[in-house]
Amino acid sequence: MKKDSCNIIIIFGATGDLTKRKLFPSLNAIFNSEKLPENFKIIGCGRKELEVDIFNQLHDEISKSSEYFKVDPSDNTDFLKLSAKINDLKSNHKAVNIIYYLSTPPRAYSPIIKNLIDNNLNKEDAGFRRIIIEKPFGNDLNSSNELNNLLSSGFNESQIFRIDHYLGKETVQNILVSRFTNYIFNALWSREHISYVEITAAESIGIKGRGEYYDKSGAIKDMFQNHLLELLCLVSMEEPKVKSAESIRNEKINVLKSIRKINCKEDVIRGQYLASETSYKKFKSYKENKGVDKNSKTETFFACKLFIDNKRWEEVPFFIRTGKRLPTKVTEIVVNFKKSINIFGDNNESNTLIFRLQPDEGMLVKFNLKKPGNKSEIINKNLEFHYKKLGDNIINNAYETLILDVFKGDTMLFSRSDFVEKAWKIVDPISEAIKSNKIKIYGYKAGTWGPKKCNDLFRNDNTWRYPCKNLVNDGEICEL
Ligand code: BG6
Repeated sequence: MKKDSCNIIIIFGATGDLTKRKLFPSLNAIFNSEKLPENFKIIGCGRKELEVDIFNQLHDEISKSSEYFKVDPSDNTDFLKLSAKINDLKSNHKAVNIIYYLSTPPRAYSPIIKNLIDNNLNKEDAGFRRIIIEKPFGNDLNSSNELNNLLSSGFNESQIFRIDHYLGKETVQNILVSRFTNYIFNALWSREHISYVEITAAESIGIKGRGEYYDKSGAIKDMFQNHLLELLCLVSMEEPKVKSAESIRNEKINVLKSIRKINCKEDVIRGQYLASETSYKKFKSYKENKGVDKNSKTETFFACKLFIDNKRWEEVPFFIRTGKRLPTKVTEIVVNFKKSINIFGDNNESNTLIFRLQPDEGMLVKFNLKKPGNKSEIINKNLEFHYKKLGDNIINNAYETLILDVFKGDTMLFSRSDFVEKAWKIVDPISEAIKSNKIKIYGYKAGTWGPKKCNDLFRNDNTWRYPCKNLVNDGEICEL
């Protein structure tokens, strides 16, 4: 008699870093929260025969049913063996649901997808077939279109999950909820009330042994084309008509379509970190990393100013910045409101709303009040909320959320093909300008906030907020 359904994740790149650091720990966490589907099994695939046990990091219950297959992405005979294994499972189960997880270097994506399709491993004859693809999704518009075309020749859009792990973060999902469910925010969410918005994704780490990948990518393709444009969409999009994946994804596309062509000469700053020595640490330069060209001109810091040409945001600048080897690890969105003109004093500061996405996840509003005992002095104070006050372990691991969503078939937190396409349309002109030497690259000392030039983007008295690890403090110097 056939057993009920069996649920499999086939991981290509099973011996790789992402599997070890993110996928296996997330699967363990899903197991611990008792959310793993019944008869779950991992099939790990890699190009070489297995020399060490990769599954011993997994919970015993998962590891005992896991199997490894040597699969060369371009070798059809390896896929025939995989296909035979799946047929075997099919003969013992009423349904076999399969998620293919492409966690390999990007050059292996096309051959794997092609071989899956050629061997009918995409066909949903008994159970679903879904495919997860890690970023980078292509390297420019052309290559991403090619990949999309190949995928859509064998999979429907509802079977394709282009992962952007930022969308799995609890605090990122909160942006829409906090914007649209709070009248006090929603009513003020436009050019009439907001003067500018900052989005920062700062990292204190360097490139962590990923020199070969990073030197070909750089901060623009590694962070801006995907994570930061997603954040920009969430903070600026119109309210979706209904709470559905397609409706939300449509509104994001409307934002991307309205982004004015970035002025590469004046509104883009690129930087690369240099060696430095601070009182607590000595940093080597970016160029000294293994896999990095000694004359590399790849940016490890990127900042830009952009505009969204629609009724809501006309002429409101959005400042976006990301970089490696900055003073601290922080991702946040800062919404700066206009200064209020009033009879009680002109020394009031403008209100600021901060979505702190990580770490010290939370929200903060800066507001004015009368200094007690003093009739004319105004002071600026914080109203703050920290997720940790809700309890321990409130913030899920992003991969945990996303893998569970793939099992449910929920595409809401994944990038649709047209998002990736439109995002490349924004990035490609910047890449072209870099190729033709139209955008300079500045050095910055590791452990600082990037090239000083970065403040020139404002062209007025405003400057970036320099966030600290804790939500409340800011300033160029803060506790690390
Ligand atoms: C990845 C980038 O997508 O995101 C890395 O490739 C970066 O370079 C990482 O370090 C940042 O993610 P998080 O979740 O740590 O902000």
